[in-house]
Amino acid sequence: MGKGKVISFLNMKGGVGKTTLCKDLSFFLADTLGLKVLVIDIDPQSNCTQSFYEKYQSKAFDRDGHGNQILKRDIPSIHNLYDSSVTSPSTTDVILELTENLHIIPGDLQIVFMERNTNSANEQKLALSINKWRLKEKYDLILIDCPPTYSFYTTAALLASDYYFIPAKPDLYSVLGLNMLTNVVKQFVEVDQALALHGRNIKCIGIVITMSSDSPGMSKRIADIRDFAASKDIHIFEKTLPYYEKLLTGRMDTFIADRDDVKLEEIIRSIASEFIERIEILDEQQIVN
Ligand SMILES: Nc1ncnc2c1ncn2[C@@H]1O[C@H](COP(=O)(O)OP(=O)(O)OP(=O)(O)O)[C@@H](O)[C@H]1O
Ligand SMILES: [Mg+2]
Repeated sequence: MGKGKVISFLNMKGGVGKTTLCKDLSFFLADTLGLKVLVIDIDPQSNCTQSFYEKYQSKAFDRDGHGNQILKRDIPSIHNLYDSSVTSPSTTDVILELTENLHIIPGDLQIVFMERNTNSANEQKLALSINKWRLKEKYDLILIDCPPTYSFYTTAALLASDYYFIPAKPDLYSVLGLNMLTNVVKQFVEVDQALALHGRNIKCIGIVITMSSDSPGMSKRIADIRDFAASKDIHIFEKTLPYYEKLLTGRMDTFIADRDDVKLEEIIRSIASEFIERIEILDEQQIVN
């Protein structure tokens, strides 16, 4: 791959697998494929961050006198990017190195409280910092886990993104949600943020279907999503991530690539290679245009 790319994991519907795919793809791409990956957790729920903290406990926690885990003082956080009391934050205020290949800008519930005094300067801070710190030269992929809202956080993520990726769970309302999502991004690119984006387009890598099963009702919902994607010229990933009870009930620190499950590992491997392939195809189109 050429210069690093920034990809937002986006769907305004909650609980569709954004965080699961963001953390599991990041881990697989870094740990198994050896790419340099930065995860940015811009969701104040910080689920992605919690999973990585549980997995790499020594990077995140100290022990108090009673042996209890406490979050390290001064741990890097996305909050330091936006906190006006931190003057010109540096990468060490913001980026936590989990392994040589896998780094994270941890999410922080505190950023919920700054949403009220957001302004366009704040919305652009993430994008500007990625440029200022030359993060696209340092990482092959920068993956942003977004919350299920259209808000300051998604605006900040999209302003920093080259591409977006949509996990979609088939149900009665998925097509309505996907339609809204693509319209919102279109409006964002063409109208709301046209100036800030300097004419840059943000393309969709594709939709990956999540939490699917073999039931006939489900096939209908999946067919609806495929029809929608075809009508909007959006790529649909060949592999789906089916419903697996153990992903719902599993421990926070367990990643798909860690499980001794050949089938699940094959799924994440296949989604990861299609993910890279799609980025390469879209990169080439960008050059041609
Ligand atoms: N393929 C799957 N099969 C079963 N459960 C899954 C699957 N993928 C994710 N889950 C579980 O479903 C729940 C929601 O997934 P996840 O947190 O990834 O969604 P999300 O889109 O990030 O949610 P939110 O919009 O709240 O951020 C989690 O408990 C997760 O473990
Ligand atoms: Mg999430």
